[in-house]
Amino acid sequence: MKNRIHGKFLSLFGEGGVFYAAAGRVNLIGEHTDYNGGYVFPGAIDKGVMAEIKPNGTTVTRLFSIDFDEYAEFDLASDAVPSQHWARYVYGVCRETEKRGGKVAGFDAVFSGDVPAGAGLSSSAALESCFAFALDDLNGNGLSRFDLARIGQSTEHNYCGVKCGIMDQFASCFGKAGQLIRLDCKTLEYKYFPFNPEGYRLVLLDTCVKHKLADSAYNKRRESCERAAAAIRKNHPEVEFLSDCKRLWLDEVRSEISGEDFIRAEYVIGEVQRVLDVCDALERGDYETVGEMMYQTHFGLSRLYEVSCPELDFLASTARRMEVTGSRMMGGGFGGCTINLVKNELYDKFTSTAAALYREKFGHDLKIYDVVISDGARKL
Ligand code: GLA
Repeated sequence: MKNRIHGKFLSLFGEGGVFYAAAGRVNLIGEHTDYNGGYVFPGAIDKGVMAEIKPNGTTVTRLFSIDFDEYAEFDLASDAVPSQHWARYVYGVCRETEKRGGKVAGFDAVFSGDVPAGAGLSSSAALESCFAFALDDLNGNGLSRFDLARIGQSTEHNYCGVKCGIMDQFASCFGKAGQLIRLDCKTLEYKYFPFNPEGYRLVLLDTCVKHKLADSAYNKRRESCERAAAAIRKNHPEVEFLSDCKRLWLDEVRSEISGEDFIRAEYVIGEVQRVLDVCDALERGDYETVGEMMYQTHFGLSRLYEVSCPELDFLASTARRMEVTGSRMMGGGFGGCTINLVKNELYDKFTSTAAALYREKFGHDLKIYDVVISDGARKL
């Protein structure tokens, strides 16, 4: 990838670029909890975005995306937003950096990535974090990694229409090889957990589908949670987020909120507890409990939060039938991957059987990715 980027960079912009990279992410457990002030448990992966960048002494930014085979430019001195959707991420990162007091001088960049788009592995967070980190470094802004993560998150909110939480950009900015990170999304306290489950492997099965309207459904889930939290807050003023709520408090407002908002909130409150249970289980080396919690999360995401799809449900239930330790859909939902915790001895049989059954049922192939927990945003 580096050679391809460099070849293109030389032909378009000449010598003198600097390389930066940032990663996509997986999440062991804690789904749709981030924007509810709950815990998440992600890690950066060995797939990401790489860019070669050089300041050009003007206010204009010139970009080339290898993967879209497309050129875009925008002038930071004007309000015009680029029309290419991929360039909007970079544009948003520039603007959000400026909003936090950072300088952004015009630059030239060529970039490429190997996070499969739409697989729920946060290719957009990798792109945002790569540029947020690079622009901070090149302009000597000295923003914190939290600021860089927030720059990516606000880019999604303000330029891409997704009201996402902080998990993806956090993982992409804070990731460390071999470590998962438990993040409390309310206080932003975090702790690294070495993740090297002896006798098990983590594997992703990519459904290779991305259902339409995923972004608008995501925003609607968030609104449901906010309505439920607001209703509970009337009785319990200390509640800031759904993650602060006891299950009993949700029952108190059952007749005041819609049935739909109720089951969304029910899922979130259960999921916040599951992350803590998984942390305890990990500290005991109890992977059977970790796996069981993953299945419970899948059930909740599918039946209560309703962000799964037939392809994901099929893969999770195939894993269950084959006695895989844990399996669940990962990320925002409506397509993308399942994350599976599989005993070494079952790995070959599980992946080959799931692939064959999936092809038979849906008429197209899934993809298999072995997960390597890797470093986040960095200069190369
Ligand atoms: C997407 C969002 C994250 C998070 C997950 C679900 O990946 O970008 O902020 O909400 O969905 O856990």
